[in-house]
Amino acid sequence: MSAERFEKKETIDLRKRYIGPSCKIFFSHDPIKIVRAKGQYMYDEKGQRYLDCINNVAHGKHTRTGIYTQRAQQMELLNTNSRFLHDNLVLYAQRLQATLPDKLAVCYFVNSGSEANDLALRLARQYTGHRDIITLENAYHGHVSSLIDISPYKFHQLSDTEQNQFVHVASSPDVYRGKHRADHPDPATAYADEVKDIINKAHKKGGKIAAFIAESLQSCGGQVIPPVGYFQQVAQYLPRTSTHLLMGNVNLISVVIFPLCVAYLWPQFGGNPVSCAIGLAVLDVIEKEDLQGNALRVGQYLTSLLEKQKEKHLLIGDIRGRGLFVGVELVRDRLKLTPATAEAQEVIYRLKEQYILLSADGPHRNVLKFKPPMCFTTEDAELVVEKIDVILTGISFPPPLCGLCTTRKGQSV
Ligand SMILES: Cc1ncc(COP(=O)(O)O)c(C=O)c1O
Repeated sequence: MSAERFEKKETIDLRKRYIGPSCKIFFSHDPIKIVRAKGQYMYDEKGQRYLDCINNVAHGKHTRTGIYTQRAQQMELLNTNSRFLHDNLVLYAQRLQATLPDKLAVCYFVNSGSEANDLALRLARQYTGHRDIITLENAYHGHVSSLIDISPYKFHQLSDTEQNQFVHVASSPDVYRGKHRADHPDPATAYADEVKDIINKAHKKGGKIAAFIAESLQSCGGQVIPPVGYFQQVAQYLPRTSTHLLMGNVNLISVVIFPLCVAYLWPQFGGNPVSCAIGLAVLDVIEKEDLQGNALRVGQYLTSLLEKQKEKHLLIGDIRGRGLFVGVELVRDRLKLTPATAEAQEVIYRLKEQYILLSADGPHRNVLKFKPPMCFTTEDAELVVEKIDVILTGISFPPPLCGLCTTRKGQSV
């Protein structure tokens, strides 16, 4: 069966008619219809190839025959719930745990990042008997109600009365634009101390903290990389019941890994043989093809190429990255840090015209956000940086506000 049943225009019309308008689409003025993908590339209905620098959830790589063979084979054999013994469940859990500290000992499988975070919250509250949660400014933790409550990226759209009174927001540990910057003698301690103050204030008001939740690297919040030592210091001020969340290369599986003392608190049923077979196959590909090593090497190369662009283009205020998680913050003024929002939108739209997909995010939507599949190559890095160079050279400085760009928003999770 062909992946494409309708002409693109018809797909657009049907989407407008049947899909809720809050489900945002990339490049809403001229959306892309993707019908297949391979490696780091996606292909539209005309066979045009796009280099994917943003896909995020397909973090290993797009379509991989081995993975889908495993899935098909397991589907032929059996799919059922986790209340029967099955080797895929225990094998997958064992292999995931082997990548983590011993303390994070046992797994619960679920279907999505949102479900995993919701479960982590539930168990943290039950284990501690406390209710309050500390989250970070601009954080995004998922789309279900319990997580909108702790996702300032989303809940800033709510009124004060709609916001959950048990949720406390600490500053984003952003050393470029945040409260404590790179010129601070010890930003990690300064940001961690703020968390300590929040805990003390909550105690004084009779509240008690159940959990501190944070993305290890804040993505929607603008590709923020916390200063070294920040999480370790924050952990000293909290009950030590950490969890870890992993997700499975666009397949419907995620896992929360708990210490044993927390994990017995609530019955949990997720993790079926098919999803676990896929999870195992994804781990095989990551290991056999050394995708983690590749992400580190290519990510460093990409960051070094971007650093050179920073010397050339005043619009680039900051480059920050860990592996293939890289952010390029565009500013109109390097001292005032005036966000170059329209220019960032201009860059991603111009890249799209050249068949490269990138997005812009952060509270000011001025951070170019790289999260390509882990099989991204040095040639891909060179290509995208070369194109960005040409685009930034063409943007006059200080840049004019383009009416078209300012309305080009709507790139959301
Ligand atoms: C940091 C983070 N947490 C949670 C989620 C929610 O995951 P899901 O969309 O699988 O529910 C996302 C999704 O983008 C995410 O980026």
